[in-house]
Amino acid sequence: MTEPILPDLTGQSAIVTGASSGIGQACAIALAECGANVAVNYYGSPDGAQETVDACLEHGVKAISLAGDVSKEEDVAALFADAIDHFGAIDIAVANAGIQKDAAFTDLTKADWDRVIGVNLTGQFLVMQAAVRQFRAQGMRQSRALGKIIAMSSVHDVIPWAGHVNYATAKGGVSMLMKTAAQELASERIRVNAVSPGAIATAINKDVWSDPQKAEALNALIPYARIGQPREIAAAVVWLASDASDYVNGHTLVVDGGMELYPEFRDNG
Ligand code: BGC
Repeated sequence: MTEPILPDLTGQSAIVTGASSGIGQACAIALAECGANVAVNYYGSPDGAQETVDACLEHGVKAISLAGDVSKEEDVAALFADAIDHFGAIDIAVANAGIQKDAAFTDLTKADWDRVIGVNLTGQFLVMQAAVRQFRAQGMRQSRALGKIIAMSSVHDVIPWAGHVNYATAKGGVSMLMKTAAQELASERIRVNAVSPGAIATAINKDVWSDPQKAEALNALIPYARIGQPREIAAAVVWLASDASDYVNGHTLVVDGGMELYPEFRDNG
């Protein structure tokens, strides 16, 4: 392998959904650092998206913020159309947008089930589908692959999570969505991979990491004994977006400080 370890994505263009904060924001900025133009999708926070855009622009690339609800087909179509208008092509899609609406099993409303499945699973499907159509339409560009898709999964694509059945079900679905898409599209040199973050300090779990007692209980689940940072996920994403990972397809890269290693068994079993 002769590719540089720090990926060079100069001249490529990316869409990152849910990039107004947290992991999506870090991914957008890291892609810009590697030289890619970035379309920063957001839903609720135009200010956060602008912050991401400003940080991307500092790296001398093009960056725009685009509103849109990834669970709506028309929003995803508009997102891709606008991004392509600005950049001329899309080489990398990071299907990141995700939410939690937690409730005990029998308290979970159908509306909160639908919303989480809609954003976290259907949203990723719609983004992947739009990306694949665009990759085909534009043909081969400067990357070895026709296009690269990175799905943001979670350790909860394998770890069941009481009180979060909508979230865990959606992430379990993301894992199979990613693998099936990878299998179906590989012969066209489209790569589809996922990153499974563990506990990463973002707004989604702030109630846990900002409370000392809950943070200690969380740390007990992490063999590496600390919470992760968004940039540690972004590092995995830019690698999966680059030619350095050209032979990696249908893979979930777990970035979790060992959370998936059954830490409860350290002193038991
Ligand atoms: C969730 C976080 C949680 C982490 C580990 C993530 O997918 O969004 O809230 O801290 O998994 O349980």
